Amino acid sequence: MPISLSTAASLYDRVRRVIPSIEWPAFSDDIDAILALKRERNAVILAHNYQTPEIFHCVADIVGDSLALARKAMTVDADVIVLAGVHFMAETAKLLNPGKTVLIPDLGAGCSLADSITASDVRLMRQRYPGVPVVTYVNTSAAVKAESDICCTSGNALAVVESLGTPRVIMLPDEYLARNIAAQTKVEIIAWKGHCEVHERFTPADIRELREAHPGVTVLAHPECPPEVVAEADFAGSTAAMSDYVGRHKPRRVVLMTECSMSDNVAVEHPEVDFVRPCNLCPHMKRITLPNIRAALKENRHVVTIDPNVADRARRAVERMLAV
Ligand code: 13P
Ligand code: SF4
Repeated sequence: MPISLSTAASLYDRVRRVIPSIEWPAFSDDIDAILALKRERNAVILAHNYQTPEIFHCVADIVGDSLALARKAMTVDADVIVLAGVHFMAETAKLLNPGKTVLIPDLGAGCSLADSITASDVRLMRQRYPGVPVVTYVNTSAAVKAESDICCTSGNALAVVESLGTPRVIMLPDEYLARNIAAQTKVEIIAWKGHCEVHERFTPADIRELREAHPGVTVLAHPECPPEVVAEADFAGSTAAMSDYVGRHKPRRVVLMTECSMSDNVAVEHPEVDFVRPCNLCPHMKRITLPNIRAALKENRHVVTIDPNVADRARRAVERMLAV
């Protein structure tokens, strides 16, 4: 049954493995109100894989990693898009849907990577390395994207870097993603010093301890983790790639070295897999809640706007990525 025709009561079955029944009444009123508001406003909700299960499984219409959200944002047939994720994701949705209203429920939902670099930093890098193309992670502001040749996500970074056909690229702003990609290609990568505050906290010692405590556990890591962590993992990939890995390989026991809610959301689909859950929470993703999604739809807030001086150039960098 599509979510828009459901009611909170009919949705509980989807999430009963990760939301105790005693907590459900705290969610059901907001869920019913959001489902009604979506119909009223011809709105869709795009939710990132790090959103909590009551958002991800009960009110979202489209879910995925940054790449999937960008791709699917282009096909949305609605007047209003609510982005349940962080601000750069809402900006990307707006770049690809200039004629639609895009809402972010909390303007404070930022990202330590996006905050690590400005448009003038990119211009300085271009001056330092003349002629070297700039590949910018989507976890950046539209102003930074506008200074770039092409964007990438963790799901397509290698393909994007290699698509340029140059011996060197500048890859901004995630140092660890850049180093993890450099390990897989002959292209020389010039990196920046940005880090994700969630993934930089994982260490190789964490993995060794987990393997000792849970013999046979399969370890999946996000490529925003330090290279030494990725080196100790069984597989590294975007949030969607980790989720696909669990679906394809059905490991008996798995640990996802990434944000906490990922495990809950994937566990809902795979009751046969045992998830070990070290928890590093993204405080920005967690600013999005059912009450503020409801308020966003009811009060039309917060409308995402992009400076027209940067929008066309930023869109070009995103569209060029989507064409790879
Ligand atoms: P994905 O593109 O893999 O979903 O990652 C986005 C993100 O913010 C990870 O921290
Ligand atoms: Fe940014 Fe890291 Fe949060 Fe992803 S998990 S939104 S990269 S701070």
